[in-house]
Amino acid sequence: MCGIVGYVGSKQAVDVVVDGLRRLEYRGYDSAGVAIVADGALAVRKKAGKLANLRDVLDHDPTPASGTGIGHTRWATHGGPTDANAHPHVSEDGKVAIIHNGIIENFAELRAELLAAGVHLTSETDTEVVAHLLAAALPAADGDLAEAMRRVCRRLAGAFTLVAAHADMPGVVVGARRNSPLVVGRGDGENFLASDVAAFIAHTRHAIELGQDQVVELRPDRITVTDFHGAPAQVHEYEVTWDAAAAEKGGYDTFMLKEIHEQPKAVADTLLGRIKHGRLTLDELQFSEEELRSVDKIIITACGTAFHAGLVAKYAIEHWTRVPCEVELASEFRYRDPILDRHTLVIAISQSGETMDTLMALRYAKEQGSRVLAICNTQGSTIPRESDAVLYTHAGPEVAVASTKAFLTQIVAVYVFALYFGQVRGNMYDEEIQHLIAQVADMPQKVDLVLDTVEPIRALARTYADAHSVLFIGRHVGYPVALEGALKLKEIAYMHAEGFAAGELKHGPIALLEEGLPVFVVVPPPAGRSVLHEKMVSNIQEVRARGAHTIVLAEEDDDSVLDYADHIIRIPACSTLLQPLVATVPLQVFACEMATLRGFDVDQPRNLAKSVTVE
Ligand code: M6R
Repeated sequence: MCGIVGYVGSKQAVDVVVDGLRRLEYRGYDSAGVAIVADGALAVRKKAGKLANLRDVLDHDPTPASGTGIGHTRWATHGGPTDANAHPHVSEDGKVAIIHNGIIENFAELRAELLAAGVHLTSETDTEVVAHLLAAALPAADGDLAEAMRRVCRRLAGAFTLVAAHADMPGVVVGARRNSPLVVGRGDGENFLASDVAAFIAHTRHAIELGQDQVVELRPDRITVTDFHGAPAQVHEYEVTWDAAAAEKGGYDTFMLKEIHEQPKAVADTLLGRIKHGRLTLDELQFSEEELRSVDKIIITACGTAFHAGLVAKYAIEHWTRVPCEVELASEFRYRDPILDRHTLVIAISQSGETMDTLMALRYAKEQGSRVLAICNTQGSTIPRESDAVLYTHAGPEVAVASTKAFLTQIVAVYVFALYFGQVRGNMYDEEIQHLIAQVADMPQKVDLVLDTVEPIRALARTYADAHSVLFIGRHVGYPVALEGALKLKEIAYMHAEGFAAGELKHGPIALLEEGLPVFVVVPPPAGRSVLHEKMVSNIQEVRARGAHTIVLAEEDDDSVLDYADHIIRIPACSTLLQPLVATVPLQVFACEMATLRGFDVDQPRNLAKSVTVE
């Protein structure tokens, strides 16, 4: 959602903050703004639109030299993406500046209270009320900004990360968090606050996780963390394992393209250290073997692309372990009274670890007594912190809004877990597990092969750049691949796209087929000429017979589909369950190329944000 940066130190705060915002812009790009503390005043610059617009403002109207500042990049919730609604918001006396990520649910009541007290509000945001409340709380807090923040936070409902600065307090920045991310970067004579470590990774790799309902006061030489009542809080300090280069484009035109090409390494990194002598060792998994043996049902919950990874996981978990597995959209999960107990294992999959729908689903599961395993890419984020156990995906930072390497690594992580689960429960033979592990270990190479042969896919995007709709069909694990291919195209190329289970086509969607409509078909491996494969070949013919154009993704030696393919895309041979790791990649490239051809911003598609921290 929104991106937040705070800085105190001896560098020019505006430079540090704006560069941090650049790295956080994936979180929201409706507006951007900074507040710099200098000479007993706040220099506030803000502008609707992308960060480039704020840079223009700063070029024409620079802020004074200062080592204290805060900055924000916005994904609009309350109030449109205008200059007036851009953060920071400032108190009436011009002394307190505040930036915010999240939603203050009781803002209407607080706003009414302020209006009744004669306060003049200048924006439609929920955030502005905090600026006025902080200014009002300061006298009773003896002018202590952190104490004023604690007092205000106790009155707020909802999800929020807040960061404040005061005109008369150079060298002080105060932050607070409830349900939204905020990380401290510990520097040498300087300190940082940000929604994501990417904002300060160029300056320090020492990070501190802030817990739920905590307030932090940052000074150049001191970091003080308390709870909302002023009691000192326990924090977890850690080293970030990647560096600034990982958060740059590295010669690619877009982050998405870079991240697509990083997939072989990301998949390998997710496996790294987890396979020893043909067996899986998940030392980091905090569940005992006994606990795992007592699990009688698994529910996977996630959103968007992570949900699609969950759909793939269901096939593997049930096939390998014979434990029933359901997959549920996190936004639906807790509202349908799901049947959960202490023998249910809930797996929450999330790249960012901050998705509010998923977080709320996991909290609900814990309340019902279930254990929760997080599969997550972001170290120190809320979802793994609140789960009973975590498996990190080690994909490295994913900056493009459209998720790519996170998807592949989520699938790999779930497979690693499923095989480990099968190993612990003893319902798989050791040789069988070893054989499967060896196949998974081969996947980075196969993904690499796909990337070496993507040129024809680019050409296909050119052929269909004017299509008004694109369909994707698949069976078994090919079905979630079809859903993912369609999602990619919708979110970055703004094209109508739908993914279907191929067998469902005849139950309705077949009516959409018309002359020239491009239909991607994910064909399962022909190994042993499986029923699945034969059925899929029939489905291709059904599509072709109605004049639609078939773009067939099939194994390198599968010639049985040639007669029915208008275009053929070859993918390396692998077992059915592993096929999503190679079949998804051409669809990602297709969407990326399509968005580029149609002139859209590949990394920052309209209306979207990388991590969705509101429900
Ligand atoms: O960070 P998460 O994995 O929890 O995010 C879930 C979805 O918001 C995310 O996958 C979204 O659908 C992506 N934009 C898809 O490319």
